[in-house]
Formats: sequence, structure tokens, C-alpha cells
Amino acid sequence: MPLVTMRQLLDEASKGGYGVGAFNVNNLEQIQAIMEAAQETNSPVIIQASRGARKYANDRFLYHLMEAATEIYPDIPLVLHQDHGNSPETCKSAIDLGFTSVMMDGSLQEDGKTPGDFEYNVQVTREVVEMAHEHGVTVEGELGTLGGIEDGVGSGEVNLTDPDQAVEFVERTGVDALAVAIGTSHGAYKFTKEPDREVLAMHIIEEINKRLPNTHLVMHGSSSVPKELVDIINEYGGKIEPTWGVPVKEIQEGVKHGVRKINVDTDLRLASTGAIRKALAEDPAEFDPRSYNKPARAAMQAVVKARMEAFGQAGHAGDYEKMSLQDMADRYSKEGHELATS
Ligand code: G3H
Ligand code: 13P
Ligand code: ZN
Repeated sequence: MPLVTMRQLLDEASKGGYGVGAFNVNNLEQIQAIMEAAQETNSPVIIQASRGARKYANDRFLYHLMEAATEIYPDIPLVLHQDHGNSPETCKSAIDLGFTSVMMDGSLQEDGKTPGDFEYNVQVTREVVEMAHEHGVTVEGELGTLGGIEDGVGSGEVNLTDPDQAVEFVERTGVDALAVAIGTSHGAYKFTKEPDREVLAMHIIEEINKRLPNTHLVMHGSSSVPKELVDIINEYGGKIEPTWGVPVKEIQEGVKHGVRKINVDTDLRLASTGAIRKALAEDPAEFDPRSYNKPARAAMQAVVKARMEAFGQAGHAGDYEKMSLQDMADRYSKEGHELATS
């Protein structure tokens, strides 16, 4: 499958000074929505699957849907990334399946809930880096823990990333990208009011970027939870409590300070749920799933398009030749795990 590596995509983003959205998928419509938005905006793109997504969709279905995406959109640089790998075994199974990037989330233990200590995190992440780089596959690590337990990923305990520890972590593991904890959490309920710089610790990104200018930074829990999407759900019988997400302008600040990958899942969930509720409410006699899946897909595409434009990846799909996994494996073996950002 001619997918590209995340390392190449993020190195290019770094050269161009832009960020790249990493969108979670579980099904056909989400993949179609993301790829159509990428085509519409001429954007490179990262598609990611959690362990839950792999189980829900089934690995073989997921693999072939992604293969179809590379056939239908040959000009779009596309990465398939394992989101929140909980162990080296999960990362290995993703690599065996054809993922071109994996996250070893050693900030949590294998249960995905209990915080892992620093030495544990270094050890499992280093193990994955050695295994993945041999195949040219990119590795994202995480230091610090996000808040929230909503989707089963997270300890509920916020533990912001320590910039000094980040330097030691990157040096000892050789990760290509580092997810940092700055006060965000997964899911719809991140903040009870618009976050200011007290709760959303953007200064940590600036600090880490100063000390690690060649490391690609990753923001998890980066859905903006737009009020207009929440309102549609509530207008058509849903019950989402008042809530705030991460403002797009804060993400754009992050991009100025080394954030290259921005994880977004919840906003697509909100967009599709609202569109489905609306379609069913407006035509209660309709029962053809296409009648509500089509507006759901269009609503997700609109969100993805807006994020691609805001993060700056729009217009950059054709900037470079795709490198193969073998080319990347050769680079790691010549230059060492700690490749300088080109
Ligand atoms: O890690 C969080 C993502 O939103 C994936 O969520 O584990 O429910 O698929 P999930
Ligand atoms: P959201 O829940 O904010 O979309 O975050 C998704 C994420 O970080 C996936 O790893
Ligand atoms: Zn995450």
C-alpha cells in the first residue's frame, strides 16, 4: 500500500511551517469524508485508528478501506497511524498490518488508564522505536497525561509535560514526534468555559519547542467542540451539556511553536451525530441509511476541510515526492534513530 510515513509528512510540514490534522476513523463514511476534504483542499493527511477502532472495523476491513483510499486519491500523501498504542505488541500488530506510523503511549500502562512512570515510558517507547524504525515506520511517544476518561483512554489525572523531562525522553527514546500534555482531554467535555492560558498551558509548548526545535510536537484532545455542532444535536433531541473545546486560534499558536500533528476525533463525531439526528427528525418515515449517512458524511467533510485550512496543510499535497518505507528505513539506519529534522 503506497502510504507515506508520518515522519516525511511532518518533516515537510515543519519546512512549510504548517500543522497537519490527524483524524480518527472507524468506518467507511469517515474515511470518505476525510479523503474528499483532502482532495478538495489539496492537503496531505493523517488518518488514525485507535485500538477500539481496529476492533470495531476489523483490521482487514480497515486495511482494505485504506488501500482503496490510496487508489482513489493517488496524489494525496496519506499516513495510516496507530492512535494510543498501549503496548509494543499493539504497535507490532499495526506495523505488520501496514500502518506507516504508530503511537506508543507509555504515559499510561497497558490498561490505558493507570499512569506509567518515566522509566517504564522510556523503556517501552525505545523498544517500539527500534522495532518500527527498522521498517521505516514513524513513532510518536507521549509524556505527561491528558485529563478525561470519557472514551476509555486516559487516567483522569492531568499531569502536564515537564520540558526538562521531555528533552531526556526524546534523547533516550529517539521518537520522531512527541505528544505533550498541556491541559486538554479527549472527548466533548474539556473545559467548562472558554479556556484561558491558565487552563490551556500553551507556554509548555513554547518551552519544549525552544529546547527541542527538531522534534515534531503533537496536540491530543484538540477538537474545538463548536457550539453550532452541539446546538444541532440538542435541537434534534440530543443532550450535550454546555462545554468548550480547544479554540482553533490556540492551535494556530501551537503551530507557530512546533506543533505539527493535531488530533481531532470528537468534532467529527459531533458533526455526524447532529446530521443524522436532523435527517431522521425531519423525515421520520425515511429508513434508507444512505438518507442520513450522506448528510453525516458531508458534515464531517465540512469540519475536516475547515481544519485543514486553519492548520495550514491545505495546498501542500503536491509539494514533494513520496518516500517509501524502505527509503525511510535506510535513512534511520544511516543517520541513527535521532534523525535531524530536514
Ligand atoms: O484516543 C481517543 C480517540 O478519540 C479514540 O477514541 O478509543 O473511542 O476510538 P476511541
Ligand atoms: P478529541 O477527543 O479532542 O477529538 O481528541 C482526539 C485525540 O486526541 C485522539 O488521540
Ligand atoms: Zn489522543
